[in-house]
Amino acid sequence: MKDLYSQNHLYRNNFNIPKIGNSDVIYFCGHSLGLKQKNSSSQINAELEAWEKLAVEAHHRSENPWVSFHENLISQSASIVGAKDNEVVVMNSLTVNLHLLLVSFYKPSKEKYKIIIEKNAFPSDIYALKSQIRFHGFDPDESIIEIESNDNSYYISEEDIISCLQSNADQSCLLLMGGVNYLSGQAFNMRKITKLCSNLGIIAGFDLAHAAGNIELKLNEWKVDFACWCGYKYLNGGPGCPSGVFINEKYFKQKVNRFEGWWGTDKLSRFKMEPDFMPIKSAEAWQISNPPIFSMAPLWSSLNMFHQVGMKRLRRYGLELSDYLYGSLKDIDSKSIKIISPESKYERGCQISLVVKNYNNLREELLNNHIICDFREPNILRIAPVPMYNTIEDINFFISVLKKIIKK
Ligand SMILES: Cc1ncc(COP(=O)(O)O)c(C=O)c1O
Repeated sequence: MKDLYSQNHLYRNNFNIPKIGNSDVIYFCGHSLGLKQKNSSSQINAELEAWEKLAVEAHHRSENPWVSFHENLISQSASIVGAKDNEVVVMNSLTVNLHLLLVSFYKPSKEKYKIIIEKNAFPSDIYALKSQIRFHGFDPDESIIEIESNDNSYYISEEDIISCLQSNADQSCLLLMGGVNYLSGQAFNMRKITKLCSNLGIIAGFDLAHAAGNIELKLNEWKVDFACWCGYKYLNGGPGCPSGVFINEKYFKQKVNRFEGWWGTDKLSRFKMEPDFMPIKSAEAWQISNPPIFSMAPLWSSLNMFHQVGMKRLRRYGLELSDYLYGSLKDIDSKSIKIISPESKYERGCQISLVVKNYNNLREELLNNHIICDFREPNILRIAPVPMYNTIEDINFFISVLKKIIKK
């Protein structure tokens, strides 16, 4: 554990820890908005300076030419999600990308038009799905199938998933699941799910908002069809920063529906301004507009840090931290709190979720003690010790405060 502490501390120093008054807060919200890395200011400033000094010329003449700026983020993003470089692009925001991917991958027919998703999926995903279903002329109320747990808990077992997929395969054309569920923190077996989907003729897509930079992913090896994730949670790219997209390379050889724009057309002829779209032979073909440089800059600097640390190492520390938190919570598991995240550390990422009593009081008391966690109405507390910057000491302090509040 000593090693874990010192290693974490190494990276913690690269982040700005928020303060209340003069004291650092204990921050357990990296699953919501990751902390600012100190480097991100200079990275943004460099681009502001390029704008100041070069204006339009910065597209081609600055140190990091804007015309290809997004390319700097591809290979590091690809290694975080276990993809080939040509399968990844960084653009737009997450729900926008989900819509663009659904344009390509939701191909309903009269017989096969339903979409399968886990219960308690993030509402924005449901809104996107429902609007796409309506757009295709189907009824959302009978076209979305939720995978539920058979004991009414937050835990969805492999049997629950298999039985839902098998019994609905005849009518379903698409699965969209969180790689890690945003509410319970449960990490799903994406390899097995994708394989089963493939056997059943169902396209498999994942929302990796809570998985990218949190757990190890091997999207290419698992043969996932498509995925998207945001850059502002575990990836620490800053609020609203662009989202990552994965498209399995097999789709570059097929004719696919796609909404298109000039940033997806062949780079050599793009500025010839010709009317025919010639898709780049990679996920970049899905790009529509030129990249938002100022919000890509901090993500780039964060991805560099991920590259240095490596997902294997990060996950190893993450597992130790979350296991330590889980064990400490288990010791005080009482009538006031109930852990709803899976017990096996391999079935969760950093986050551990609790159902709590006296929700409002707990929220206030934790904040009074300078602890920032995340609360979801009506009674869920989500705590994410993030290996990039959280420490065992953070967890110990949190547990001691929680014990005191519960005793009161
Ligand atoms: C699982 C999940 N999906 C989708 C979203 C929506 O993200 P965005 O606002 O970037 O579209 C979020 C946001 O927190 C999320 O947690």
